[in-house]
Amino acid sequence: TFVVTENCIKCKYTDCVEVCPVDCFYEGPNFLVIDPDECIDCALCEPECPAEAIFSEDELPEDQKEFIALNEELCRVWPNITEKKDAPADADDWKGVKGKLKDLAR
Ligand code: SF4
Ligand code: F3S
Repeated sequence: TFVVTENCIKCKYTDCVEVCPVDCFYEGPNFLVIDPDECIDCALCEPECPAEAIFSEDELPEDQKEFIALNEELCRVWPNITEKKDAPADADDWKGVKGKLKDLAR
């Protein structure tokens, strides 16, 4: 499965949802997650993310492992998103900033 990681937080560009053939992205206030049960591992979303926030679970950096459980948990409670929308106005300011997990809104 593929996993959305920390760099999506406060960036949420949503380019990823446009290419997903099974519409398995779910949207929170400032972050998106993938439903691991629905993801078919097509890898189409990974290169679409301007923040490089999407990884295959197999290639997940060590410090992003906790995002496996977060994607699993939050996809159950957040609504599905299938169409791209405008990113937050300050999305580019947050791109690549470390330590954003504390800013994750639920
Ligand atoms: Fe969707 Fe494919 Fe990305 Fe999985 S890998 S979330 S199926 S686009
Ligand atoms: Fe997030 Fe990247 Fe998608 S920033 S919303 S994973 S395009």
